[in-house]
Amino acid sequence: MKQQIGFIGGGQMAEALIRGIIASGLYRENDILVAEPNDFRRDHLEQTYSVKTFESNVPIFDNCRIIILAVKPQTMKALLLDCRERVQSHHIMISIAAGLPISFYLETIGKNDTKMIRVMPNTPALVLEGASALSRNDNVSDEELRAAEEIFLAVGEVVILDEVHLDAVTGLSGSGPAYVFSFIEALIDAGVKSGLTRVVSEKLALQTVSGSVKLLKESGEHPAALRGKVTSPGGTAITAIHVLEKVGFHGIIMDVVEAAVIRSKELGKVE
Ligand SMILES: NC(=O)c1ccc[n+]([C@@H]2O[C@H](COP(=O)([O-])OP(=O)(O)OC[C@H]3O[C@@H](n4cnc5c(N)ncnc54)[C@H](OP(=O)(O)O)[C@@H]3O)[C@@H](O)[C@H]2O)c1
Repeated sequence: MKQQIGFIGGGQMAEALIRGIIASGLYRENDILVAEPNDFRRDHLEQTYSVKTFESNVPIFDNCRIIILAVKPQTMKALLLDCRERVQSHHIMISIAAGLPISFYLETIGKNDTKMIRVMPNTPALVLEGASALSRNDNVSDEELRAAEEIFLAVGEVVILDEVHLDAVTGLSGSGPAYVFSFIEALIDAGVKSGLTRVVSEKLALQTVSGSVKLLKESGEHPAALRGKVTSPGGTAITAIHVLEKVGFHGIIMDVVEAAVIRSKELGKVE
């Protein structure tokens, strides 16, 4: 097994993974190969991370056992049709493209023995705080799955799930940053409406959210228990929570995630 890892597509997500695996010491710079058509991106990746870059994806298949497909979902089919002859049974193909099922890769590559791992990461991976879910097909051994898991642990938390659960993951953590950003935006506007400057409101809102997450993680307590601790009798917080519950906040969030899960299922059916 060659100790080199290859990326096909050197965009934002590939860059986050490269940054994470170098920082974690998982692979040395020299052992990371990237195929990327864009000259500017190749120069950027070489100069910033000292990785090897190529215009063609042939060196990736020739030198790497683990190959991460990091192109947009809409260009995936063309890429697979172009490289299907080069995919061999020792390659561990890992795709981070949203929505495309493992069956899509196997059908397009046309080889039953292809080892395929599908990953649903999220955008905080760009700052090494991602949440990724991994699913494999039967051709991938436990040891090979572990090698893939290590890569995504370098950019955050990882869960291993059957592929059937990836639509739920898309609705929760994949699309989740959008809900969190919307909540924070609303919190900032609320501060401004109450008379704070936008700068002050933004600073307080961001710290309130990140501090609350840290408190949850470090205390190990259930969110309801911590909420109970900040709602004093007849106080401001319980008065505000009353408003949240009257509009059905809990149910709204569950509906929001469910809508994204349904949409993910719909998109997964489209070829
Ligand atoms: N960004 C995220 O937060 C995020 C989150 C979850 C999942 N994902 C998934 O991650 C994948 C990559 O997303 P991204 O944001 O990193 O996209 P991106 O920045 O557009 O990167 C994709 C790169 O692949 C290059 N490329 C296109 N065709 C290629 C080919 N045949 N061979 C080699 N390289 C090729 C593109 O070059 P050109 O620009 O010249 O076409 C581009 O530089 C997507 O499938 C997306 O669904 C991304």
